[in-house]
Amino acid sequence: MTFKRVQLGDVVLNVLDEGSGRPVLLVHGFPLDHTMWREQIAALAGEFRVIAPDLRGFGGSGVTPGKVTMEQFADDLNALLNALDVSETVALVGLSMGGYIAFQFWRKYASRLRALVLCDTKAAPDSPDAASQRLKLAELVLRTGVAVLSDNMLPKLFDQQTIANQREVVQMIQGVVLRSNPEGVAAAQRGMAERPDMRSSLGQIAVPTLVVVGTTDAISPAAEMREIAEAIPGAKLLVVPNAGHMAPLENPGEVNPTLLAFLREH
Ligand code: MLT
Repeated sequence: MTFKRVQLGDVVLNVLDEGSGRPVLLVHGFPLDHTMWREQIAALAGEFRVIAPDLRGFGGSGVTPGKVTMEQFADDLNALLNALDVSETVALVGLSMGGYIAFQFWRKYASRLRALVLCDTKAAPDSPDAASQRLKLAELVLRTGVAVLSDNMLPKLFDQQTIANQREVVQMIQGVVLRSNPEGVAAAQRGMAERPDMRSSLGQIAVPTLVVVGTTDAISPAAEMREIAEAIPGAKLLVVPNAGHMAPLENPGEVNPTLLAFLREH
């Protein structure tokens, strides 16, 4: 695996940059890092240039306390592509928070995109109640550490089958959550709490789009993702059996063939 340390203004990002070919940018969810894409990195790197950063505040990247908006994360990705001398258009694959960031990247940098893959994400903003829960959790994490986050999130991330039959996957993700940085976590929570409503913009997305969702996703329900796919002109939808919110990691056997075919086509 080839990793780079890329200085972007006030922060250093840890970035996996593997393989060659047309670039594919993998954007992880919250509170995770690039390792959630291990099955896709393995499947894609023989054919594509796979760029999988740890976002600001996560994994091996630097932390900026306070608040990091989805727009700031998108600005980081744009600066990262510049720093890596990527002049071709990219396919951006984002999961959950990575999808919120993908929407902001599209809004500001659509000309850099050749395709979008939206996995287990939402176009709707937080309800006032959800936003206030998030801000409370952010404060709690800062006071007491990330264990509370692991207790809160882990049960919602996976399908029951994954919990029963893929212990290693669950433990791997739990390890990432437990190693996450409280300041990084709080900053992203504050940013997600004020993310914009993208629902009325979906009809303007002219980039070829694939929507992927686990059948039992408890955070971004399949019905809501179906609505996203129906609102984006020409979008394709893949509903992944035996998978929850972490569909690409839980069931790569279903996700990778469709993902590869889509990326080859676009
Ligand atoms: C994620 O997986 O990125 C989070 O569940 C997103 C969120 O908390 O809304």
